[in-house]
Amino acid sequence: MSRAIQSVRGMNDILPDEGALWRTLEDAVASVFEAYGYDRIRLPLLERTELFKRAVGEVTDIVEKEMYTFEDRGGDSVSLRPEGTAGCVRAGIEHGLLHNRVQRLWYAGPMFRYERPQKGRYRQFHQFGVEAFGLTGPDVDAEQIAMCARLWRRLGLTGLRLEINSLGTPAERAGYRDLLVDYLRGREDELDDDSRRRLETNPLRILDSKNPAMAELLAAAPSVLDALGPESREHFETLCATLDGLGIAYRVNPRLVRGLDYYTRTVFEWLTDELGAQDAVCSGGRYDGLVGQLGGSDTPAFGFALGVERLIALMAAQSVPLADVSPHVYLVYQGEAAARTAPGLAEDLRDAVPGLRLLAHAGGGSFKSQFKRADRSGAAVALVLGEAEAEAGEARLKPLRDQGDQETVALADLPRRLAGDFGLPLADNA
Ligand code: HAM
Repeated sequence: MSRAIQSVRGMNDILPDEGALWRTLEDAVASVFEAYGYDRIRLPLLERTELFKRAVGEVTDIVEKEMYTFEDRGGDSVSLRPEGTAGCVRAGIEHGLLHNRVQRLWYAGPMFRYERPQKGRYRQFHQFGVEAFGLTGPDVDAEQIAMCARLWRRLGLTGLRLEINSLGTPAERAGYRDLLVDYLRGREDELDDDSRRRLETNPLRILDSKNPAMAELLAAAPSVLDALGPESREHFETLCATLDGLGIAYRVNPRLVRGLDYYTRTVFEWLTDELGAQDAVCSGGRYDGLVGQLGGSDTPAFGFALGVERLIALMAAQSVPLADVSPHVYLVYQGEAAARTAPGLAEDLRDAVPGLRLLAHAGGGSFKSQFKRADRSGAAVALVLGEAEAEAGEARLKPLRDQGDQETVALADLPRRLAGDFGLPLADNA
């Protein structure tokens, strides 16, 4: 036997036993995003490398060391997308979706970053992302934060903390950068190696350091909020007031800077204490300069992305109620007449009761072995068709999850009976 091949490090299979978690999240996300009028867009996994260099920033960790970049057979440098915003903006410009109008979009799918894998951090991971274009806010900033809060309520998740900050306009941010660099240069001997390197390239990211030895130094650093001009300050204050009005609790964290270069003004993160070091389950903010920077006309924008694996882990940790994805019915049958009737019966029932999950036995075998599979499938009832039932135009319904007597039901009455038992609608012509 030859050696079995294993998956690539940091790239996970998502197995059927996590199906109910994923399905619950996917359904909740789609219905919440749609409730706010966001339309789904589907974007390629592969983009020109140049796009991420220009959008995310040349001196970010993502672009410097985390992208899966290669030359395609035509000699172009392409990269697996490390995030969704750049591609969404690219598509918006390319198809004229952003010009002089408001667009509210969302997307879903895998992202790729060559990071050191650990709990909650993978090389292929999934995001649900949201981007709104053409709105200067801060009403749309608050709308998207409220969307997240609604999603947590809808899922039954608790304990998520919201942190917000404002990075100001590019000019204000540049002014702050100078202030910060002056301050840090004054205490350069207290910086660790990584921060000393960042002092030249991306000093704001130093604020993100988790090194306890630098905590005091960073706590005393100048605050970006003090560097905001009157308009940015008003934008931020209005956002805070709107969140207060909506009853959404938050903490202003002037050291929240984010790892991507495109942000202006509002940035935010939703954090949990239940997942260890990888504590951000959702992050985003405003990026008013990016559309122009990527060749579109100047368009304000605001968005965020949810980390699906982290939310799934939190849902599991909090045992939130899950969608039932196991079959309603497992069809068991034996004998010649039954074998002739069963396939058509299964199709007819699926037609007559939309939403019915009916797993039909395949592969023959004794009733006993079929019932074993029925039990293992998690189905609520077995629909049993033996030779005598098939001849008589009947079937037996046998509860599998709880005690209860089996009952004989005429095949013609089955749709109404199953629809009633499982709270499903009947098709118009049933
Ligand atoms: P991000 O903070 O890089 O932002 O990623 C968003 C979320 O994706 C994080 O909060 C985290 O939950 C999850 N995430 C990131 N990296 C990993 C990883 N290696 N493994 C597992 N989960 C991960 C963005 O991607 C921006 N595009 C968000 C945005 C949209 N800003 C504006 N619009």
